[in-house]
Amino acid sequence: MEPHLHGGRVYDFAADLNIAVEQVMDFSANINPWGPPPEVWKAIAHAFGGIRRYPDPRHVLVKAVLADYLDVEPKQIICGNGAMEILELAMRVLHPKRTVVVTPAFAEYAAIARRYGSEVISIPLVGGVIRQEGIGSTETLGVPFEVPLSAIDQHVRAGDMVVLNSPHNPTGVAWPRKLWQTAVSQWNDRGAYILLDESFIDFLSQADDYTALPLISRSTRVVVVRSATKMYALPGLRFGFGISSPELIGRMEGDRDPWSVNHLAQEAVRVSYSDQQYREKTWAWLGREQRYISDSWGSLPCVDLYPPSVNFFLIRFSDVDLATRVDQQMRQKGMIIRNCDNFEGLGARYRRIAIRRHRDNMRLFHEAKAVVSEWRSHQ
Ligand SMILES: Cc1ncc(COP(=O)(O)O)c(C=O)c1O
Repeated sequence: MEPHLHGGRVYDFAADLNIAVEQVMDFSANINPWGPPPEVWKAIAHAFGGIRRYPDPRHVLVKAVLADYLDVEPKQIICGNGAMEILELAMRVLHPKRTVVVTPAFAEYAAIARRYGSEVISIPLVGGVIRQEGIGSTETLGVPFEVPLSAIDQHVRAGDMVVLNSPHNPTGVAWPRKLWQTAVSQWNDRGAYILLDESFIDFLSQADDYTALPLISRSTRVVVVRSATKMYALPGLRFGFGISSPELIGRMEGDRDPWSVNHLAQEAVRVSYSDQQYREKTWAWLGREQRYISDSWGSLPCVDLYPPSVNFFLIRFSDVDLATRVDQQMRQKGMIIRNCDNFEGLGARYRRIAIRRHRDNMRLFHEAKAVVSEWRSHQ
């Protein structure tokens, strides 16, 4: 495995530093810092007795809650052991000849495609220029990242798979549906499959303007992928799901491990999606912290901030040496941020940072600011 294939490597980090895993302040995995909704603990305690039976392979109770929440039919939903299982199932069952991935991207899209013999075509995002290189550091251009729809379009043929991800890991951008829905419908009609990874969408309070769900009823080849592990802080329990046409869902259900979603995960997710109060508390916290991030990181010299739409943000240091010093300082303090050097199209100056509770965000920022000041004084 490559050194930074994913964030969240808290067990390795704790072992290296000889500290308890609970002492690690992890800014490298984008998990809701409020922890699972309060009812989850009770639901799990109550469900413990059920582990002596096989879990429900039809996921009836949890699907009913998800169908109600999303306003779709249970037969349009497939549950999995994390969004990962849905990505993998879709790739295995739909078996595209070629997979178009927009980079930088979550590394598993290309990894899974290759595992199933699909040729991977990488197309870079366009825009995303915050500051022009070589011009004074106050020259702000602020060109947002855009999905390269016409470049993708040139490649898409019947039987191919296009993977899109919004809100996007690692840039933190969410693109409103109106920007890409026509292109997605055209690719669908051309006979291509479209996998829309919406693993972070629950962090948006206005998700209706962003989600691909309204396309499902008329686009039989679109699969929307969601994750419960980020918003509901359940990465160690695992739960994700896909939404698509009943026909595609039926094909995927017919070719899966029937018991991959354990009983405790089904019960935890059933109560999580019923908890509107938890979502509202999360959105209120996130709005406040996004403003704090913009004010603090946005005014730090030698750092470009890509403004967040969800619970993480991307930054670019002006210099690799500075970025490395920040990593070292964080490490000494038991904090991890995500080095983005293995994201295609980014590099050693980029870091992705999860937004945590205010005290932690302040602590991280002040540590980084001290390193930046010290570094600048030697330039
Ligand atoms: C964009 C994206 N999709 C999917 C996943 C996998 O999510 P899960 O934990 O539900 O398998 C991740 C995990 O980091 C991710 O960043």
